[in-house]
Amino acid sequence: MADALGEVIAKIKDRLDILEVVSERVILKKSGSHYWGLCPFHKEKTPSFSVNPNLGIYKCFSCGEGGDAISFLMKIDGKSFMEVIRDLAEKYGYELPATGGGSSAGMRELKEQMIKACAKAADYYKTYLLQDKSSETLKAMKYLTDRGITKDIIEEYNIGLASSKYTGLYDILRAKFKDEVLEKAGLILESRETGYIDRFRNRIIIPIRNEHGEFVAFGARAIMPEQSPKYLNSSDSLIYNKSKLLYGLYHAKDAIKEENAVILMEGYFDVISAQAHGVKNCVATCGTSLTAEHIKLLSRYTPARRIYLSFDTDSAGQKATKRNAELIKEAFTGLGSIKQFDENYLALSDDKYSCEIRVIAPPEGKDPDEFIRSVGAESYREYIKHAPLLLDFQINCVLKERKDIKTPLEKAELVKKVIPLLQEINNQIVQGEYVKSVADVLEIDEKALLTEVRKKSRAMRAPQPDVSRIVTKNITPAQKAQKNLLSVFLVADNPLNFKQINEKVPDNLFSDETLKIVKSTIDKLICTVNNVKELIEELYTSFIDNPEIHKLITEMIGIAETFSGLDTEDFDALIDENIATIDKCQADEKRKQLRESYINANDDDVKALMIQMQIRDQIK
Ligand code: GTP
Ligand code: MN
Repeated sequence: MADALGEVIAKIKDRLDILEVVSERVILKKSGSHYWGLCPFHKEKTPSFSVNPNLGIYKCFSCGEGGDAISFLMKIDGKSFMEVIRDLAEKYGYELPATGGGSSAGMRELKEQMIKACAKAADYYKTYLLQDKSSETLKAMKYLTDRGITKDIIEEYNIGLASSKYTGLYDILRAKFKDEVLEKAGLILESRETGYIDRFRNRIIIPIRNEHGEFVAFGARAIMPEQSPKYLNSSDSLIYNKSKLLYGLYHAKDAIKEENAVILMEGYFDVISAQAHGVKNCVATCGTSLTAEHIKLLSRYTPARRIYLSFDTDSAGQKATKRNAELIKEAFTGLGSIKQFDENYLALSDDKYSCEIRVIAPPEGKDPDEFIRSVGAESYREYIKHAPLLLDFQINCVLKERKDIKTPLEKAELVKKVIPLLQEINNQIVQGEYVKSVADVLEIDEKALLTEVRKKSRAMRAPQPDVSRIVTKNITPAQKAQKNLLSVFLVADNPLNFKQINEKVPDNLFSDETLKIVKSTIDKLICTVNNVKELIEELYTSFIDNPEIHKLITEMIGIAETFSGLDTEDFDALIDENIATIDKCQADEKRKQLRESYINANDDDVKALMIQMQIRDQIK
């Protein structure tokens, strides 16, 4: 059985991708061969957390935390090794040998049932809408047709209708699912007088799928204007967490990757309309505000972190744009500045920026759904193409208000609004240019405006980010050399194989107890592993319950990185140098001991003489 378990663990390790695992929790930015982000294990404002996808490891240069994908999951979720393995086995669909973990198996079964029940419900609602010919379905069909929702769209998005009957769905599903499953999935409610009734009645049903395409929840729109609320949404459940899920992502993810950009909209129908008209890379929150989790989710699909905001263009929509832009900026704090200008002389590589926020704002004052249906998808695409960067959009919005200005006081108010926007501009020359044009448009004194902008922005400017620090403790040269020598095994592109290295590194060089343990583990592992990546994984797993050694391994990987790119000759020299240092330190130590015993042996001439000779030998 241990073998079977080992096999599954090996398969899981094979499948695991450190970038995928970490970027579910941390927004990462590529720089060279590594990825960087804010460390999730301690509070920080500038990124010192790095991921090395080639070795499958992460490391924080500030707090020293490090490990592989499995230890990342253990640490971040506070789970044991086996708990993480169990989660991953489930995720990848591997069967673990039975160990009697009853409760988690029960939970898995419950979730599976809930997902099945949601899929069945979606199917039931859709079939009812498409096949029933009662007056309520005809009315619903007319409502949808008037909104431009065709049969094809209904099929594609599984749009349905919940009838006004109290137990339409329950009557069908109760035969296949336990009440508990249906209730936990949010499909039925318990009513005191009559038992269970359907949660959704007399509403258009919009099934919500997670990024893997599983049905997990529903949005339900009122058909009649007098019906309240307009939308009734599923509550969070075991299978649905609305602050981590984005509507439309399942249909959008390929397009988001392809375009390296995502369009964030407000409502279900905005996403459906846009996608149905070929603008595929759009998503919406499910009736909640945007969260940092949503933004992390999106960052995984768009490496350039290019986000378009497409809300209503009325004043409520503008507020939503501002609010969401703030949330996005906050989520990217510390990862660099947000892209502010399109000018070529400023634009370096995409990854110079933490993110790029643009606003799609047709002047017609409609939401994307209405705009696309009335003006057309072609025109909407033009607006995407020419979408201004957030800063330009915001400055423009303020400047547009000048038409309504009647009094000097109102003008002063407008200036007050534009100053914080101008202060956000990082580049002083560009800031000066913007100040000039804003002063022109508002007909105010340019110098006075510039003084105002610079005055506050200096006070507000954030302290310069620290350069990444590496935690190093006070250690002796001998310990340092021993650590170096052991790290040689972890050099990813080393010119020697493990056996060759091992022959050069004798065991008796290691005096540090912890290093001795690690060395003997390495000795065992190098007989079975194929490469450095696997060696690192196995080392982490071997010491999974020993945080001290875990840290040591992380430190050694860091040391090993500094040894990369050496040819055989230099690599040999590196090993020899460190062996020489250890030898010298050991000899020094021995001499020191001899000298001490020589001093102690002062009264015994014969003994002293012998020690004196030994010391002389040593020096030779
Ligand atoms: P339509 O009128 O159907 O086109 O909807 P809309 O998306 O244009 O309307 P609105 O801007 O009012 O809603 C945007 C999104 O907010 C919807 O898709 C829902 O997710 C959510 N929402 C709207 N009204 C309600 C409500 O009454 N309750 C809840 N919980 N969410 C709502
Ligand atoms: Mn709408």
